[in-house]
Amino acid sequence: MSDLPGASETVNLNIQEEAHALSVTIGTYNEKGIDISKLLGTTGHVTLDPGFKNTGSTKSAITFIDGINGILQHRGYPIEQLAELASFQEVMYLLLQGELPNANQLADIEGQIKAETKAPEGIKTLLNALPDGSHPMGMLSVALASLPSFYPNALDSWSDETVRWETIYRLLGHMPVIAAYVYRRSQNLPYIDPNPELDYVSNFLYMMFGEVDPVIADALDTLLILHADHEQNCSAATVRMIGSSHVNLYAAIAGGNSALWGPLHGGANQKVVEMLESILADGGDSEKYINKAKDKADPFRLMGFGHRVYKNFDPRAKVIKAYADKILDKLNVDDPVLDIAKRLESSALNDEYFQKRKLFPNVDFYSGIIYRALGIPVDMFTVMFALGRLPGWVSQWKEMRESGDPIGRPRQIYTGASKRDYKPITDR
Ligand code: ACO
Repeated sequence: MSDLPGASETVNLNIQEEAHALSVTIGTYNEKGIDISKLLGTTGHVTLDPGFKNTGSTKSAITFIDGINGILQHRGYPIEQLAELASFQEVMYLLLQGELPNANQLADIEGQIKAETKAPEGIKTLLNALPDGSHPMGMLSVALASLPSFYPNALDSWSDETVRWETIYRLLGHMPVIAAYVYRRSQNLPYIDPNPELDYVSNFLYMMFGEVDPVIADALDTLLILHADHEQNCSAATVRMIGSSHVNLYAAIAGGNSALWGPLHGGANQKVVEMLESILADGGDSEKYINKAKDKADPFRLMGFGHRVYKNFDPRAKVIKAYADKILDKLNVDDPVLDIAKRLESSALNDEYFQKRKLFPNVDFYSGIIYRALGIPVDMFTVMFALGRLPGWVSQWKEMRESGDPIGRPRQIYTGASKRDYKPITDR
């Protein structure tokens, strides 16, 4: 605990009138975490926290979120500054290495990643073997999980520094290629191989569409930055959990990608646009859907609204909303779902139900509208999120391995049947 910024202190926990002193870990911004790691041994109790709503699973120096005040920083840098001023590859370096790169360091990481843009031909064969209509996120997970078969040296990704970085750069280099192949397969279009002349984002767009519009490349670069990391979210926590068994990096990332697919997490960006389209098809009555979202008997939720950590505006959503207007304008796109989104947002923000629960638009509320304007089909939206989140996942995995965190293995409170004897089937 003493290696942390700020002093540590203790609190007392009284169990049946016996006081147990527990040390408190204090973070950079005075966040406090009570260390209960020895509680079972000293008191016979575990803590119970389904969904980890109140549990810090690790110490981390990568990303800071203040959900009450709507603040997000990577390695200390505010997301608003990174989105406006940095490139996605600068942010990659920042997340992985802890500092912004100088010109040589940036050129180095760009070169290392570019050298890994040729993905194995077997990936195409693998994607071709999947049925038509497969969801792109499923295809992406399959392709990611196959990488150790093509690169057996990655099986022990942590064995030495050289293998570690080779494994990381290869993944960062392959990801846009695989994501573009997934798109081409899902559309039954011929694959386009990478063009080594192009930068990371332009190359991805080239492999997707066979051409690169600089306005789109610029917009996408910013969107990828806005998705690059988000501390211990469901997919990053999954990557850390899987990686804590010391399985290879690619297996951990494939698992994180599957976690991202869910509609309560990254899959929400697809669901938001589908929701907006169905509201439009239903006559555009946003109030009707606000009422449905408030009705506890109705399973409908306002997708793209609410967040486990933000009880204020998601700062990424603020940037994306302003950006959506700008991009649609630049691309000369008039999308009626943007009006529906704005009406929904304004109604929700003025509604007591949403105010009381502190439900605000999250990163997924407006991102899908931009992806749509960029010509990306709706079932590819979460793949775009994964492309942006990859440096975050890798950095979280790297930090977890560097810090020597133990294997993730929660406890439970057993509530099933107590011991009983087996009976032959004829007596049951
Ligand atoms: N629409 C309507 N009501 C909502 C919504 C919503 N989108 N989100 C939360 N609520 C309500 C809940 O019903 C609950 O009400 P109650 O206190 O009366 O029971 C209260 O707000 C708290 O919600 P929880 O579900 O307990 O909050 P939790 O932190 O577990 O869930 C989550 C957060 C999953 C993001 C939730 O807000 C949600 O389902 N949102 C819609 C899906 C979404 O946009 N996901 C993307 C999140 S961002 C990301 O992962 C990239």
